[in-house]
Amino acid sequence: MLDVVKAKSVEAFTAHFGCQPEFLAYAPGRVNLIGEHTDYNDGFVLPCAIKYGTAIVAKKNGTNKMRMLAVDVNHETDEFECSATFTAHETKVWANYLRAMVALIMQKGHKVEGLDLAISGDVPLGAGLSSSASLEVSFGHLLSSIFGLNIPLQEIALTGQACEALNGCKCGIMDQTISACGKANSALLIDCRSLVLTQVPVPSNLDILIVNSNVKHSLVGGEYNERREQCENAAKIMGVKALRDATMDMLNAKKGEMDDVTYRRARHVITEDERVLEAVDAFKHGDLATLAEKMYASHCSMRDDFEITIPEIDGLVEIIRKAIGENAAVRMTGGGFGGSVVAVVEPAKVPQVKAAIDAEYEKISGKKATIIETHAFDGAYFTTL
Ligand code: GLA
Repeated sequence: MLDVVKAKSVEAFTAHFGCQPEFLAYAPGRVNLIGEHTDYNDGFVLPCAIKYGTAIVAKKNGTNKMRMLAVDVNHETDEFECSATFTAHETKVWANYLRAMVALIMQKGHKVEGLDLAISGDVPLGAGLSSSASLEVSFGHLLSSIFGLNIPLQEIALTGQACEALNGCKCGIMDQTISACGKANSALLIDCRSLVLTQVPVPSNLDILIVNSNVKHSLVGGEYNERREQCENAAKIMGVKALRDATMDMLNAKKGEMDDVTYRRARHVITEDERVLEAVDAFKHGDLATLAEKMYASHCSMRDDFEITIPEIDGLVEIIRKAIGENAAVRMTGGGFGGSVVAVVEPAKVPQVKAAIDAEYEKISGKKATIIETHAFDGAYFTTL
């Protein structure tokens, strides 16, 4: 929450550097309502920005060095020379997103000078809510604003995506785009090929619930990049640029030329793109029944075809479905292999969902879940303090 992380970062900055910061940037995490693993297939996604995010406060230090303090990572520090060459820190993962952002911005010919920085974020780590995107976008927006670089927000998002690639995850463009360009009270339909953005108002009679399974996910691992390769392979077999261009008829025509896993990966993406567009329509009409049908179909497709859910997450989805009864709009959100579930619910049903999770989740997982009530928030923000 902006106020909370702003206060924490200002206080830590002052204590550490002995003076007041002059600038603040903030960018939120996100929850994806529907459209999973479609972004790097040039398809559609429907995320919204959440109430948690990353604040960075800064002051020019008159040197060529970035000197950084990560408040929530045990007050770890790091420093590096501003340069167009990315040099990774061996252990400080958080620092590498900032190191990469500076290098990539300087590679575009922009001038960046030394800053003292304190960073504080409250996006839960490993929850599938894009803590790293919020860090990248917050920092990119800070640099652009302080040094008058005028980098458009969507270009900052693309640079954030490139930071992830430098750090080993060949992710799509969803997380950084929503973190940069989110608007309060709206989800964002992103066409990940044209990068055209369409705001889709969230019906005012619906709440967004995020339930963190507290089984940590990490995308800087092989599974994500492997899924991407499988999708690219399927597109190649069908002779299309990306799975966005394929239909189920085209896929079925080539079924004999691919293994079952490749077929199912492609089926997930092709059907998921359709579901996103149908869900957008349902949102526009406040049609919770159709939204519920599409979100649960999305979950089953991630579970059975894309194989990115885990038993704890599947269990949570079923607990929530049972608690809501009819019109349960619920699915896993984010990259997968742990993380969170998202539900779009009528406010009156929130207490029964919470009660069911409290009563049932620990039995199947040995863990407690964390429930986050949010609505759609604004994207990146900058101000002089
Ligand atoms: C992660 C990636 C995104 C997207 C999702 C899955 O969040 O960063 O680009 O691929 O997984 O939809």
